[in-house]
Formats: sequence, structure tokens, C-alpha cells
Amino acid sequence: MEPITSRTQQETQALPDFVLRQFDRQSAEYDHLQLYRILQTGIRHGRLPAGLKLPPTRVLAQALGIARNTVVHVYEQLALEGYVEAGVGRGTYVTDLARRPVKAAKAAVADRDEPLSRRGQALIEHAGAARLQWGAFTPGVPEVRMFPVRIWNSLQSRVWRHAAPAQLSYATGAGDADLRQAVAEYVQGTRGVACTAEQVVITSGTQQSLLLVAQLLADPGDTAWLEEPGYWGARSVFRAMGLKLLPIGLDGEGLAPTPQQRRSAPRLMFVSPAHQYPVGALMSQRRRRQLLDYAAAHGSWVVEDDYDSEFRYGSRPLPALQGLDEHHRVIYLGTFSKTLFPSLRVAYAVLPPDLAEGFARSLNELFREGNSMQQAVLARFLAEGHYATHIRRMRAVYSARHDALIHAIRRQFGTQLQVLGGAAGLHVVLELPRRVNDADVARDAQRAGVTTRPLSMYYMKKPAAASGLLLGYGTVREEEIEPSFDTMATALRRHL
Ligand SMILES: Cc1ncc(COP(=O)(O)O)c(C=O)c1O
Repeated sequence: MEPITSRTQQETQALPDFVLRQFDRQSAEYDHLQLYRILQTGIRHGRLPAGLKLPPTRVLAQALGIARNTVVHVYEQLALEGYVEAGVGRGTYVTDLARRPVKAAKAAVADRDEPLSRRGQALIEHAGAARLQWGAFTPGVPEVRMFPVRIWNSLQSRVWRHAAPAQLSYATGAGDADLRQAVAEYVQGTRGVACTAEQVVITSGTQQSLLLVAQLLADPGDTAWLEEPGYWGARSVFRAMGLKLLPIGLDGEGLAPTPQQRRSAPRLMFVSPAHQYPVGALMSQRRRRQLLDYAAAHGSWVVEDDYDSEFRYGSRPLPALQGLDEHHRVIYLGTFSKTLFPSLRVAYAVLPPDLAEGFARSLNELFREGNSMQQAVLARFLAEGHYATHIRRMRAVYSARHDALIHAIRRQFGTQLQVLGGAAGLHVVLELPRRVNDADVARDAQRAGVTTRPLSMYYMKKPAAASGLLLGYGTVREEEIEPSFDTMATALRRHL
């Protein structure tokens, strides 16, 4: 086969940009899979035209901040499948697919035979979970180093000493009975949630709670309203369940559907009223009432994600939306991921009385739940007051860190940049001018060793996305906040 002559120098340089724009260093996808996907789709869809010379592996690796071997491996794979052609000393060129050799034709058949379903592909394509889950300023992760391990161990020993065989078998209910009771008392007392223990279902995380909600309360094709910007985790689960996602903008009072959007009621509405994720606003009392009235009038379900309301530094949180609901339209979701530690994987859903039994049965049917021993330990941790003590202690720690971060931001930028998020939760949002590409800033910061997540990734409608950085302070000690932020500021200044 004739070697295809190189296009212009300009085109060759455009390729790293093409890849850079799409390559997400924080994506959950492995580097080699991500790079392969970007190049392969670019070639298949003609965005990387036949004859285009790929940059040398060293150059691309450097531009992306990944290992050269990764790029070598991806080029080899693409060559094997016929997407590119390589010749010793000649470089690597995009194949003319119309004149593909046989091996490429085979690959074309394989393309049509994509192993993942369309739903699966969409899930991976829109994946939001970061691979880095520790280090300054990873958002959404608490200070796990201060978890009271000794207390936990001693409770664990006690629970194991009295372990019943049933606790080591498959679980058959909606979670450990003592834990359901303890959670019911906790959410009544601290969040004004109106419930009994029978309405509490223990899950292995908010993600699982959301999966149950989507599976049991909606059918594929039903519409879900999601806050824009909003929690990518809810988006991913709802998308995977085949729901139609409708991003709904926010105003000063919270979720703000336009009159036109209100005309067609959704099946589900996902909201975070206590501390909007990620921008941190509190939903007004008036908006809460409007939302509940609308849900009652149209038979919609309100999914209330109350993920970090324990941490408010100053004002007290408004009680949960669920407590205002007279029509049983709210599914209230809480988690121990932020108050204790995420890998515990214990969360809870408080359901309207009529739904609890169905949720519990489905949980068993789909997942054959277990983890009963851990839940029993957690029940004691709550009942004996350790949970309340830990939260009180952590509130003071996070409050000091929050202040230290604000101080570090002000020291670097004065009032040039706004901080959103209220004095609550485990992160703030540093607002950037719209012209700044926040994903580029995050990438540069990561190279310098500091983690942040771009605000734009929390939007479904990217062109309308605001620019900003989520800065978490759960994973960074108070004394490390200023030096870490200085590193962040250096990366950021290059883009301002
Ligand atoms: C908005 C929001 N809700 C809920 C959660 C908790 O999810 P899980 O309980 O699955 O850990 C998170 C964690 O990142 C979150 O950011």
C-alpha cells in the first residue's frame, strides 16, 4: 500500500489540540482507553482525515501528561486495527478508510458490533467519577484520617462477639433493624424528617439509592429534572436507567423551571435543597413549597439529596424538604460517606410509607444485600452517641479549614475572584471569568500536584456552563491549605 503523504504541518499540530480538548486527566477511564477512544472515534467520524500525520508519541505523551508507553500502545492498537499506518522512520498516518486493508475491514465489522450497549456507551462517554479521590483539593471527600478507629474497633469486637448466624447470611430486610431505628431518630432530630424506622431503607450508597429510585419509580423514557449545574452521579444513574434528562436552571431561590418546562411534568425531580451541589445555594422556603405543590399536583417524585447538611459553619440548616411534604412525594436520601468515610458504603433512603416495602424487596431481589455486621456496628456507633460527637468535632475542623481556604484565596486574588458555596459542606467554588477554560486550569493544576474539578463538568449544556473550580478541604490539613492553594494559584494565573 502506498504511503499516504503528510498533510500540512498545521494539521499535524492541530491533532494534539483535538486530543487535548477531549482528554480528561481526571476521568474514570484509563488513559490508554481514553486516548484510544478519542483517536479511533476521530478517525471513524472523519474529524482526523486520511493522511493526517499523528504527532510523535513523545510529543503527544508530553502534551497530555501521560506515559509515552501509553501512547505507543495506543498507536500500535490503532495500527493493528488498520486505523493508522506506521512505517519505520516515516511516522504514523491516518489510514484512508475507503481503501482499508482487510484487517481494517474486520475492524469495521467489529465497530458495528460494539460490545457495549448504547446505554453502556453513553454511561462511559459521560462518566463523571474522578480516578483521584484523595489529596488537596479533592472535592467531596471528608477527612478520613480523623475517623475514630479505636472506638469503631471496640464496637466491632463487641458486635462480633454476639454475632448471630442470620447476620452472616444474606440479609432479608431493608437493612439492620437497629440501624434503621437509629437513622430514623437521627433524621427526625437533626433534619426534621417525618418518618418511622419502617420507612428507612439502608443502601450501599446514594448511588444505589438513586438506582432504586430510578428503577422503581420511573420507566425508560420518563423524564427526570436535574439541577443545572448538578450532581453528575445522579445524571449517570438516571441516564443508565434510560431516563430522559432535562437540565433545569437555578435562580437565587433554587431550582427554577421555566414556564415552558413546567408545562410538561417530569416523573422525577432531583434536588439538593440544603446545599445545592455543586454551587452551594440554599433553596428558599417559598421555592420548597412551590416544588412540593407542583409534585403533588402532577404526581412527580421529588428526590431530595441531603448529602452534607451536617456541616454548616454559622447558620443552622433549614429542615429537610421531606418534613414539609404533606403528600408523600419526597424520597429523602442521606449518606454516611461525608460524615464518616466514603468506602464504608452505607447510605439510607427515607421513603413514603407505601413505598418502603417495595424498595426493601427490590433491594433484596436485585442485590441480595448483606453487610449486616458493619451495619450493626454503625447502629451502635449512632446509638451510643459517637456519631454526634464525631460530627461536632469535624464541624469545627472543617470550619477552620474553610476559613483558611478563603483566607488563602483572598491573599492571592483579593476580591478579583468570587467564592460560592456558603459556609457549608466540604468544598467551595472559585468562580472564574467565563473566557477561562476551567478544564484546562484543572489539568494544569493536576500536573502541579493539586486536584480540583472544573465547574463546567457539572453542566449538561456545556456551552452555557459557567467557569470555576471546586476546591475541597476535607482531604487537606489546615496548615497545608495555604501552600497547596499557592500552587493552585500559580497554575491558575497562567489562564487569567
Ligand atoms: C451531591 C452528592 N450526593 C451524594 C453523594 C454521596 O454519594 P454516596 O453515598 O454514593 O457516597 C455525593 C458524593 O460525592 C455527592 O456529591
